[in-house]
Parts: sequence; C-alpha cells; structure tokens
Amino acid sequence: MIVVRKDSPLVIGKGDGENFISSDIPAYLKLTRNFYLLKDNEFAVLTQNDIKFYDNDLNPLQKNITKIDWDATSAEKNGYEDFMLKEIYEQPTAIRETIGNHLIAGQVCQFDELNFSKEFLSSIQKIYIVACGTAMHAGLTAKTMLENICEINTEVDIASEFRYRNPLINKNTLCIFISQSGETADTIAALKLAKSKGATTLAITNVEGSSITREADFVSYTHAGPEIAVASTKAYTSQITLLAILVIYFAEILNKNSETLADLKKSILELPTKAEQLLNHIEDIPEFAKEFYQNKDVFFLGRGLDYNTAAEGSLKLKEISYIHSEAFYSGELKHGPIALIESGTLVISILTVPDLIEKSISNIQEVITRGAKTLVITDKNLEHTNFSKMIKIPETNPFLSPILSIIPLQLFAYSITKQKDLDVDKPRNLAKSVTVE
Ligand code: G6P
Repeated sequence: MIVVRKDSPLVIGKGDGENFISSDIPAYLKLTRNFYLLKDNEFAVLTQNDIKFYDNDLNPLQKNITKIDWDATSAEKNGYEDFMLKEIYEQPTAIRETIGNHLIAGQVCQFDELNFSKEFLSSIQKIYIVACGTAMHAGLTAKTMLENICEINTEVDIASEFRYRNPLINKNTLCIFISQSGETADTIAALKLAKSKGATTLAITNVEGSSITREADFVSYTHAGPEIAVASTKAYTSQITLLAILVIYFAEILNKNSETLADLKKSILELPTKAEQLLNHIEDIPEFAKEFYQNKDVFFLGRGLDYNTAAEGSLKLKEISYIHSEAFYSGELKHGPIALIESGTLVISILTVPDLIEKSISNIQEVITRGAKTLVITDKNLEHTNFSKMIKIPETNPFLSPILSIIPLQLFAYSITKQKDLDVDKPRNLAKSVTVE
C-alpha cells in the first residue's frame, strides 16, 4: 500500500506482522503503541512486515517511532454507556495528570518545554489566543487571567476569523493556539499566518505529534488522555487547568503579586478532589433533564468568567441534543434576548463571579417574572429559593470556577440527549477533528 499525506493527518501504526494507517491514533490503540507520523507530501510504502518512507522527490527518509503512552482501556468505554459520560467522569484524573509536574506545592511553576526568560516575557506587548469551538472557550478564561494577573493585553480570536482579518502582529506578539486534536485546519492556518508575521507561537494540544506540534515554536501538552466523544469535556477542563498554570508561570517570571499566585496555586492543586466531590453530588441532574428534553430553546446567562461557562454549556447542549440554545451576557438580556422568554423557557444561569452575583440574580428575577424556569449553578450559599433548581458547586479561586461550573452543564447536555434517545458520542453533521476548512 502506498500512502501520501497532504494537508489532512495521516498516522501509521507499526504492528507485529501487520501495519496500519489512519487519521488518528485512538483508532488502533488496541493494536499498537508505536506510530510513525508523516509530514505533508511525505510518502510511505507499507507491506505486512515493512514500512519505507520517502520525501516528495522519492528520496528515502529515516523516521523515528513515536511511542504513545495512552492505554487502550482509556480509549474504551470501561463500563460506561457512552464515551462522553466516561470522559465527564474522567475529569478529576485528566486535571490531575495535566497539573503533573508543572505545579508542585511550595515550588515555582515549571515548563521545561518553554523555558521563557524574563527578558522575553517583558518584551511581549500583546497575546492572541486563537482556537475553535470549545478550545476557544478555554481561551476566554485564559484571557481574563493573563490580563488580571500578568497585566498583558490579550485578545481571543476564532481561528477561522483570525486567519482572514489581517491581525496586528509583530515580533513582540505571542500567539497561543489551543487545539485538543492538534489537527484543526483553521487553527493550523492561523498559526502559520502568525509565524509568517514574526510572532512567537505556542501550541497547547492533547495529542502528541499532531500537526500543530510540528508547526509551532513551542508546544505544551494537556494530559487528558484520548477524547473520543465529539463533544469535548475533559479536554476543555484540562486546557483551562494548563492555561492557569501557564499564567502563573508567566507571572512568577515577571515577579507579579505573589499573594494571588499562592492562592491560585493552592486552588489548582485542590481541583481534582473538588471535581470528584462535584461529580458525586450531581446524580439528580438526569431527573431534572427529563422535564426539559422537549423544550425548543434553552438560554444560558453569565457575567464575566461565568459567561464563558454559559457559552460552553450552550455549545454542549446544542451540539448533542439538537435543542436550540444560546448564551448571553446577563447584562445584555434587556437589549433584546428577553423578548424570547415565554412561559416554560429554560434559562440556565451561572453565578460564581464575586461582586456580580446580585446583579445576575436581578436578571434571573426578570426572566422568572416572565414565566421562565431557571437552573442556577453557583458556588455561593444563596438565600433566594424561587429558582426551579440550584446546583451548588465547590468554591475555588474565582479564576478557576469555569473548570467546575461547566461539569453539571456537561452532564445536563448528556442527560437531555439520552432522554431524546440520540447518539451522544456521534452527533449528526459534526466531526471530532475538523481537518478541512
Ligand atoms: C470540532 C469539535 C469541537 C472542538 C473543535 C475544535 O468542531 O467538534 O468539539 O471544540 O472542533 O477542535 P480542536 O481539536 O481544535 O480543539
């Protein structure tokens, strides 16, 4: 068999008396952990026992084997009904693995793969975070942290827009690209553009050896393990975890406020346990979901970081349940969206940002007055009890609350979809890796 890679990913698995080709690694984790990764325009000739590689001019190439340490059981359902459910419950482990050795109590953060100097970070005038879908939502939370903690001007861009909008980039720009798969065509094209304009590029991905890792100047990995369900869950919470540690790493190099950093570090180390506690206390969500699976619209509200959770919660729901859902900044409700509220409309609100709780509660009261049902996700002990349902999540450092507040919403989207008897892992019209424009 003769294969060539062109734009889309191509991975070759080396077996014993058998070899494999596929577009991604989880496809044959059961069969081998040894892979060869092809670059664009490289050829391979496979026989049962042999693999030979050639460049575009058919000169022979030597390639090293990439060994993947993901285990096959983590790419199987492991007793869960669906991959999505399994991946939701794997979040404590994924977060713990992602923290890894970057953050150890009482020590400064380490990113051996980056090794940035104070001189380099001080020269950065602007950071762009570029990604698609769920990964872009992770970037929104990183922006708040970078601006508040490191005081670096940061913008978040959707990759398919960034690549065509002639962004202002120079050698004092750092561009961070987030991609679970490392294969998203728009994100890779945006990275190539940023590089050609002189920016320093950093890729955050979950997949070793993926295309993005070969393009970026620097790479740092989340360690969420293989994510099979199309709807991203553990990759998202791992991305925010890694980005939070990256922000601390920058802040420590830049000598920023150490009190905030100390609390943030302690809170990150507590996240796996808190995610575990939360997962053990939300078993009534499927029952609540039963009431709403026939709804036509669901709206999500939040302010500040809570908006990011609203946006991600809304994406989860629409992509797998096919229920129309939208996220709004709570303060924008009065400028249009409130016209959509009618009797029985479900409005989901996230309330964790200190100082904004009272304002958000008054928005919720406005929709209740108009007949909406309400689900509130909060880490505070709220007195107001006229919500249809309130889910209390563990309290953490406010910058990290998006990591916990999304978990009940992932489970809510999952439960609604099961109620509708749809395929949770493979929703219609969507792909896990979008390797074409
Ligand atoms: C697809 C997936 C989404 C994902 C997005 C970006 O649309 O269905 O779940 O968020 O691609 O993927 P990436 O692999 O770049 O994070």
